[in-house]
Amino acid sequence: MEGKVKTRRSLLNWLLTGSLGTLILATIYPIIRFIYPPDKPEAVRNTIVAAKVGELEKNSGKIFKFGTKPGILVYTSGGDYRAFSAVCTHLQCTVQYEPTRGDIWCACHNGRFDLTGRNISGPPPSPLEAYDVAIRGEEIIVSRRTG
Ligand code: FES
Repeated sequence: MEGKVKTRRSLLNWLLTGSLGTLILATIYPIIRFIYPPDKPEAVRNTIVAAKVGELEKNSGKIFKFGTKPGILVYTSGGDYRAFSAVCTHLQCTVQYEPTRGDIWCACHNGRFDLTGRNISGPPPSPLEAYDVAIRGEEIIVSRRTG
């Protein structure tokens, strides 16, 4: 009988020690990874397929993922494609296309950009980064400008 109690007690001790160890590791590991991030730099994508031809209606926009940041593709009412970084130059909110005004709007502090990416009202201090747009077959390709 006493042997059984001893076995249960040692099993409970083992489980509690293991749980405590796991808890400590689960707490410390993310802190260490935050303090010492991996050496590998983030891969930078310079070209991406932002949409398919025919996916957007005229006078509309689409947010796409460009690496780790959002981009915005606008199909103007005149039938042109324009692409920009969708990261507002004020406090980095994601902008959106506003079809009623035909411009790009940041809802965070009512910042506005025209369809060249230029900041036209509100607090954004600088234009959106403009990207090049090309159509290859059925794909709309967006590229970062170099140089
Ligand atoms: S973050 Fe866009 S206007 Fe402030």
